[in-house]
Amino acid sequence: MNESQEMVKLTINNIPIEVPKGTKIMQAAKVLGIDIPHLCYHEDQRIKAHCRLCSVEVTGKKRLLAACSTEVWEGMDVHTDTQIVRDTQVSILQLMLANHHKDCLSCPRNQNCDLQRLCSRFNILKSNLPSVVKEVPRIETNPSIVRDPSKCIRCGRCIRACKDVQGIAALTYAGRSSDIVVTTAFNKPMEETDCILCGQCSLVCPTGAIVEKDDTQKVLDALQDNTKHVIVQVAPSVRVALGDAFGLEPGAIVTGQMVTALKLLGFDKVFDTNFGADLTIMEEGHEFLHRLNNGGVLPMMTSCSPGWVNYMEKHFPTCINHLSSAKSPMSMFGAIAKTYYAKQAGLKPQEIVTVSIMPCTAKKFEASRPEMGRDGYRDVDVVLTTRELIKLIKYVGLSIGQLPENDFDSPLGLSTGAGAIFGATGGVMEAALRTVYEKVTGKTLEKLEFMDVRGFEGIKEATVHLPGRDVHIAVAHTLKNARLIMEQVKKGTSPYDFIEIMACPGGCIGGGGQPIGTTNAIRKKRMAALYEIDKALPIRKSHENPDIQTLYQNFLGEPLGEKAHELLHTHYHQVDKPYTFN
Ligand code: SF4
Ligand code: SF4
Ligand code: SF4
Ligand code: FES
Repeated sequence: MNESQEMVKLTINNIPIEVPKGTKIMQAAKVLGIDIPHLCYHEDQRIKAHCRLCSVEVTGKKRLLAACSTEVWEGMDVHTDTQIVRDTQVSILQLMLANHHKDCLSCPRNQNCDLQRLCSRFNILKSNLPSVVKEVPRIETNPSIVRDPSKCIRCGRCIRACKDVQGIAALTYAGRSSDIVVTTAFNKPMEETDCILCGQCSLVCPTGAIVEKDDTQKVLDALQDNTKHVIVQVAPSVRVALGDAFGLEPGAIVTGQMVTALKLLGFDKVFDTNFGADLTIMEEGHEFLHRLNNGGVLPMMTSCSPGWVNYMEKHFPTCINHLSSAKSPMSMFGAIAKTYYAKQAGLKPQEIVTVSIMPCTAKKFEASRPEMGRDGYRDVDVVLTTRELIKLIKYVGLSIGQLPENDFDSPLGLSTGAGAIFGATGGVMEAALRTVYEKVTGKTLEKLEFMDVRGFEGIKEATVHLPGRDVHIAVAHTLKNARLIMEQVKKGTSPYDFIEIMACPGGCIGGGGQPIGTTNAIRKKRMAALYEIDKALPIRKSHENPDIQTLYQNFLGEPLGEKAHELLHTHYHQVDKPYTFN
């Protein structure tokens, strides 16, 4: 607390408290351990004050005040638990329930739903108002996101996430008064709008109205099929987020326990997307050097965030040639699994099922792209979000915190610190710089940490001195920040040579498929955990990964070589017509 900050004294439920001027009642109460119920409020969003569930009594005021939007004042006397407050909160919840499809048992958010939790807290066992819910079918037209309007409580959190974080505004209110709904422009399926399937709306939705497409049954079925060899890869950011759902501290590193859980689930091999990240650095780093030395299109932009790739294809199609042609770590891994690994394991590609555990809903879309596969099979067969993995782990009754640790399997499980930091904004750039610098100079980097590209700032810049030329780089996360960079690229005024963009706040650690309850404060803890993992690893540069070196020696040849191009690179295209899905 700043010493010169003006303080305000007040009482909440007769308990005296002193808080900085400007504090809202909700936060002041939290200091005392009082949780004022809320639904439209979200700590990372600007205040909406729509739902009024946070109503409290303030002595001297005739009407109840919203605790989320009302600042405390000197001498304020707040009561959060009077009969009128309780009656108001129960009435609001009852009104919501009357307009809600209450099929909790079959709802994806069962036991992880704010509305359900609040009804339980207020002992609302049944609705006392006649139902006015309109039966609207679930909208399941794309591989990433499912909307269920009959579960929407019109809190507006999704609208704010899409507009204020991503700068996209694919969702909006429509209609009036009691007929108001949250929808897309002309009520089109999300994929036919400006939406890039990032899932940030699903992460903040307090109910089951916007959820990821559930593919867990596909994985359970594959695991039961004796004719299939089912392998799994896990993205760098999942291991620092998974613990949240099992009562561990945010940012807890559960790599070894997660591997054990996956083995117990029955996967034949448990591999690491971090290996794919090291491979991406080999290809993307060499592609950057090739562009730099041969007058290629600059700035080159990273392409491992599928929400960002979707954004480029939809919003800046004329700039697509700035995107690196390197596939994402997930898709590179899939291509290698169905070729190099298949050969080593003596299997046909069709016998292998590749499952990816990702922090991201847009990865489901990436895996479904026709470019991501060959000869009639896909690089990646099923993508599960972190949330779906949590479901599977709970399904078999495991608790991550108590499991023994295990190592990833070989030959696609060994990775470096560079691969680990891919999960945080700035991580791909830092990993690439570690390799690019050593390849260009032939010298060993004294200090591996590029602090200028670390942290939660929206746009970060740095200059790296290479022999004969300075390289200007930028790193941005969220598409609202990306747009600022892209306007310059589009005009041809960008001062940068190399740009990293991640669609989600904080990068993948804050992805749209991460556990419900993810906030910016939690994202920062996960980010710190990834840098901890990097620091503790014996190898911290992608080009020093011995299994990557073997892969090139025995199978791929050179980075950017013919085989590498065939398997590890792709192309993008303008999206001028709606996506179609099988
Ligand atoms: S959104 Fe919540 S309250 Fe509604 S059906 Fe799903 S779990 Fe139940
Ligand atoms: S998935 Fe992303 S882009 Fe699409 S509506 Fe949700 S927040 Fe907006
Ligand atoms: S879809 Fe979810 S986040 Fe959006 S308004 Fe409805 S309940 Fe709120
Ligand atoms: S939480 Fe305060 S009005 Fe909704």
